Amino acid sequence: MGLKLGIFGTGYAGLVTSVCLAQLGHTVTAIDKDPDIVASLSDGRPTIHEPGLPELLTNNLQTGRLRFTTQAEDAMAAAEIVFLCVGTPPRADGRADLAQVEEVARTIAPLLDGYKLIVEKSTVPARTADWIDWTIRRLAGREHPFDVASNPEFLREGSAVRDFLQPDRIVIGADSSRARSLLLDLYEPSFECPIVVTSVTTAELIKQTANAFLATRISFINMISDLCEKLGVDVTTVASSVGLDSRIGGHFLSAGLGFGGSCLPKDLSSLIKVAEDNGVDVSMLRDVEHINTARVDRLLAKVERALWVLRDKVIGILGVAFKPDTDDIRGAPSLGVVPRLHGAGSILRIYDPAAGPNLQRLYPPDDRLTYANSALEAARDAHALLILTDWNEFRSLDLGQLRSLMRTPIIVDGRNLFEPAQVQAAGFEYYSLGRGEATLRVEPKRVYV
Ligand code: UDX
Repeated sequence: MGLKLGIFGTGYAGLVTSVCLAQLGHTVTAIDKDPDIVASLSDGRPTIHEPGLPELLTNNLQTGRLRFTTQAEDAMAAAEIVFLCVGTPPRADGRADLAQVEEVARTIAPLLDGYKLIVEKSTVPARTADWIDWTIRRLAGREHPFDVASNPEFLREGSAVRDFLQPDRIVIGADSSRARSLLLDLYEPSFECPIVVTSVTTAELIKQTANAFLATRISFINMISDLCEKLGVDVTTVASSVGLDSRIGGHFLSAGLGFGGSCLPKDLSSLIKVAEDNGVDVSMLRDVEHINTARVDRLLAKVERALWVLRDKVIGILGVAFKPDTDDIRGAPSLGVVPRLHGAGSILRIYDPAAGPNLQRLYPPDDRLTYANSALEAARDAHALLILTDWNEFRSLDLGQLRSLMRTPIIVDGRNLFEPAQVQAAGFEYYSLGRGEATLRVEPKRVYV
């Protein structure tokens, strides 16, 4: 028998959570303040690019298990459990901006009528639940019982639906038996994976720790890739061999332009602040940030090494999303690379399978910046081709065709997509991150002008 659920926020986490919980048989009322988003979703038009989402949205609108509204009352009246899936973007000081979380708490307080379980799904700093509880209590008084719990999401953009329906684990942070059993009623019937039941604060910290560790792995291998360059060693060989150790594993050891997105960077800085606010030295995590921030500079140094003068050089850019299979450019390396090359006077031709329109809103076309409809179009007449996102379609590019289109056969690969030998055999000068330094300069066979 499905539960009645309310979801505040229909961004990446909220929309995926809504459609997946409806798919599992629950009745979901999702709230968003933006009427245009509510209208689009109610018409079955997804507002984010996620594989599998359109079908689930359409299916569950049709069954009537899922509906969208701007009216918080609708959700509160119908729901036993209310999920907070609103944004927690970074503030300038690195702490999470919890204004949207507080706003939902203030919205919920006067609408309480009988027991409600309010559940944090957004990634929040440890002890945020205490603040939600305090806010609601202060505004709603004591006549209506409620609990605040934590049930963090571990969704990756581009595989969020799969990650929700086939999680490695589910984490439930609850400090009352009623909250615990409600969330177990919600998840136990539908999932075989381990279900961690712990305190609210522990659950909040588990989520932040997970993302900070993922970020640490990436910065660690990027640090090693810098050493590999000096030693003339291929970091992908080091990473794949190290990853064979079952205690280490091969995931999240791909060196390149580092981690972007709307989660890892902000969750890392938020955890740093939580630790520092509690007097704990996490300078190691500061280094994780610094290594990551420096990746764009490393790539641009290679572009200058390859091209010397950047002004008036035609540069094709493949990939602007922060990772493949998403249109999201938040925290993407392209947000550093594009303005720096544009400012240096290069002529940019940009292609991304999905994220072009999002970048175009920030960097509209001009006489030195155009958007191409294919990788080959972006490479035409280019002095160099930069790869910033490891979209699968770039792996199967015809290197011979690419070389015939370009003015000078130079590839600067920020995601180590290709094998150096393969690209050099095709006549390219190939630069990447962590694959040895000296072995990649191939004198062009013909003089290019
Ligand atoms: C991440 C976490 O994986 C997910 O569990 C959490 O819920 C939200 O944040 P996401 O931000 O979607 O998910 O992206 P992810 O797939 O983790 O990649 C993050 C960034 O790291 C991307 O920019 C990716 O290009 C980069 N990355 C990933 C590497 O540079 N090297 C790697 O080996 C893996």
